[in-house]
Amino acid sequence: MKQGFRPDVVGSGGWFYSEKVKDHFFNPRNIFKTKEEAKKFKADGIGAVGSPQCGDVMELRIKVDKKKDRIKECKFRTFGCASAIASTSMLTVMVTEKGGMKLEDAMKLKPKDIMGRLGGLPERKVHCSVLGDKALREAINDYFRKSGQFERVKEEGTKIIDKALKITGKDIEDAVLEGAKGFEEVQKMTKVGIKDKNCIPEVKRLIRHYRAKHFGKS
Ligand code: FES
Repeated sequence: MKQGFRPDVVGSGGWFYSEKVKDHFFNPRNIFKTKEEAKKFKADGIGAVGSPQCGDVMELRIKVDKKKDRIKECKFRTFGCASAIASTSMLTVMVTEKGGMKLEDAMKLKPKDIMGRLGGLPERKVHCSVLGDKALREAINDYFRKSGQFERVKEEGTKIIDKALKITGKDIEDAVLEGAKGFEEVQKMTKVGIKDKNCIPEVKRLIRHYRAKHFGKS
């Protein structure tokens, strides 16, 4: 088990904030204080994402050690909440410590990993931690595009699952992050499977997948 990890807290319905979360919220690492500061940072890649759940925005900039293919520096700006600040602050530490994370490993970083290092987040705040890792993948993709490494770009899952209503895998993921625990709840939020019944087994599989990915349970 990872140090400080609270399986009873990650994915729980409570509002517990660990000491680490409070520390990274009150003393965020690698944060831009102003827009000007962010602009002066000579970034190799920039990623900006918004949260469909709360409308908050995250912008993250990276510098890359091109020879080693590792992240050298990683800084962010956000209009998100305390959980978004704390989790992205921790993310910037994780990707730059020990000589910097390999780009391919940084691409695979999951909210669960960040929450593990933070000692957990309330379930209703998990979507805030997703902002940082999504912005990071955008920033790495941006670097790949700018440096002509197009074959390394990985787009987020936009595959259409429900052909009648054009509902994507990402819509299912968002519903899970919003707190839907099973098929009925996801269907209530998205209307998936109401017309296109053939997609239901795939939707159920995706719900299990995203529950395991974000909350460590199916
Ligand atoms: S980032 Fe919007 S509520 Fe946390």
